[in-house]
Amino acid sequence: MSKEKILVTAALPYANSPIHLGHLSGAYLPADIYVRYQRLKGSDIIFICGSDEHGVPITISADKEEVKPQQIIDRYHNLNKDAFNKFGMSFDIYSRTSIPIHHQTSKEFFLEFHNRGLLKEKKTNQFYDKKARMFLPDRYVEGTCPNCGYLEARSDECENCGTLYDPSELKNPISKITGEAPVLKETSHWFFPLGNYQKRLEEYVDTYSKKYGWKDNVIQYCKGWLKDGLKDRAITRDLDWGVPVPLDGAEGKVLYVWFEAVLGYISATKELSREKGKDSLWKEYWQGSNTKYIAFIGKDNIVFHCIIFPAMLMAWNDGDKEKYILPENVPANEFLNFEGKKFSKSRNWGIHVMDFLNIFPADPLRYTLAANLPETRDTDFAWDEFQARNNNELADILGNFINRTFTFVHKHFDGKVPDKHKLLPIDYDMIKLVADYPQKVSDLFENYKIRDGVLEIINLARVGNKYFNDSEPWKTIKTDRAKCATTLNICLQTIYTLGELLSPVIPNSSEKIFNMLNAGMVSWFESAKENLEVGHQMNKPEILFPKIEDEVIARQKEKYGSDDTSEFQSEDEQITYDYFMKTQLRVAEIIDAEKIPKSEKLLKLKVRLADEEKQIIAGIAKHYSPEEIKGKKVVIVANLKPAKLMGINSQGMVLAIENEEGKLQILSVDNSFKNGTRVK
Ligand code: MF3
Ligand code: ZN
Repeated sequence: MSKEKILVTAALPYANSPIHLGHLSGAYLPADIYVRYQRLKGSDIIFICGSDEHGVPITISADKEEVKPQQIIDRYHNLNKDAFNKFGMSFDIYSRTSIPIHHQTSKEFFLEFHNRGLLKEKKTNQFYDKKARMFLPDRYVEGTCPNCGYLEARSDECENCGTLYDPSELKNPISKITGEAPVLKETSHWFFPLGNYQKRLEEYVDTYSKKYGWKDNVIQYCKGWLKDGLKDRAITRDLDWGVPVPLDGAEGKVLYVWFEAVLGYISATKELSREKGKDSLWKEYWQGSNTKYIAFIGKDNIVFHCIIFPAMLMAWNDGDKEKYILPENVPANEFLNFEGKKFSKSRNWGIHVMDFLNIFPADPLRYTLAANLPETRDTDFAWDEFQARNNNELADILGNFINRTFTFVHKHFDGKVPDKHKLLPIDYDMIKLVADYPQKVSDLFENYKIRDGVLEIINLARVGNKYFNDSEPWKTIKTDRAKCATTLNICLQTIYTLGELLSPVIPNSSEKIFNMLNAGMVSWFESAKENLEVGHQMNKPEILFPKIEDEVIARQKEKYGSDDTSEFQSEDEQITYDYFMKTQLRVAEIIDAEKIPKSEKLLKLKVRLADEEKQIIAGIAKHYSPEEIKGKKVVIVANLKPAKLMGINSQGMVLAIENEEGKLQILSVDNSFKNGTRVK
């Protein structure tokens, strides 16, 4: 049998915004560490990524800026490619889905399914925005739920009460793109019969997850989907940006972005094959009998990679063409937060990769994120922790161990590797411990426990420092030179091992370590052998991890947020009309009010909007009695996320002003304004 091959893909990021640290933790860094580790092991592996360049958000960004989608994708494709590069991502190719080879691959899949009669063509009614001249995807329509009156219901589903309904039942539909009322218009689309694959997908998830040890979060998520039962899914859209549906009479229709994006992995591999001058190379990875395919993604992509993409490949494999392999594992991570809160484009919360790397080198970031990967639960990036990981771990533990060893060897042994002499138990223990390391870390990496592997490696630097301290070479150099030489020999061999095991994590620093050692790397499992010969001349040490000063961190916190106030834009910053319009201010009538026991400040209000009632907890009890406020028409923020105050649900906020003496007045309007009227 031929040697095993490994195909690794990392989710294709949308080319409509810059990638941020959360993306790195979710998929890219773990994938890169895994791949670099496999390469050191000598595996035959390729690493595929690229930009996802279709979909509605890209057309909307383009419309907003009044440019062509091509301009948007060119900008972000290049920006993200550069950012990945600077971060040290070692993709074999960073492709993009707008290129001809991808259009061709996607059309080929669609036609294969269509020609075999697999796809169903169905007519549906969909909201159409006349002003924007486009059909509106579900998440761009908002209206009032016909069941509960929730104001932000989607076109066919209310997330407040969970009701599913026909789009024609939605009240007061509004296009989120133009703010106009859309009309229902008939359109036809092609559907992929996902339900036909229910049984086989259940089997696939069950056997693969057991055999290859899928992560719990991934299994739970898949089971949830499978339990709900899989239904037909539309794989085309009415849009003028994307891969055109390759059928006569399908003008104005494109393949649904998720249908073709996953195929982008295949197209990118084809492109790589061409670059390498061997057009059929991609088949060895996608259709090889001895290849394993690992797909790294964030948790929001699980259904597409564990259910839909496998179903598409199964459907293809039912035909008479060459068969594809299915993902062996999909090690999806949870999310990374930023200073305690979700990354958010609209709230300006977080930091883009490029902005970060314009201030700090990649390795401290790679290390901090790696030590904190959201493998089993959401984790957090905090500036203070970043500083501490750099200063206390990279600099004080790893850097210090390397630096003191090198300085000592240069001072007392002319910078040459000293000879080993009679070993003491402490030396034996150290040698044994180092010798087991490649296997120990490998066991973790092979099981996608990247974070544990990284923490394990840094522990070796900790142990190295302790060994150096306990051996007291600064004393033995005067009393027992042979013993001192032994200590330093073992420290240097340990540094070699550390430098290599860390190279998937902090490749630039690892390269510096090997420059200092004046040596090259061997394969992973050889890295704990005695790789440095006695007498080998080494180079002078250089500082590997400069400390990061408090002021530098303070400046970043100010700029990129660290407390509640800086989350929002500063007062003189201007917001767009659209941004403001997200706040739904509406007239509401207070129909009931009561004091909340044990609270001096809070009143519990019941307010009425157009055809909905809300409960609001307002901090106005010191200024208004329940009696005097009943019947007033006030202005509320109607789309505020529900929150609990003193354990009681609050579904909005009443607008009020306060003067310097702390006197508070709620904003009210007279009775001629209907409940629910929007205030703009
Ligand atoms: N663009 C998607 C996202 O950023 C991921 C696409 S992964 C692919 O969430 F496989 F479909 F390309
Ligand atoms: Zn509802």
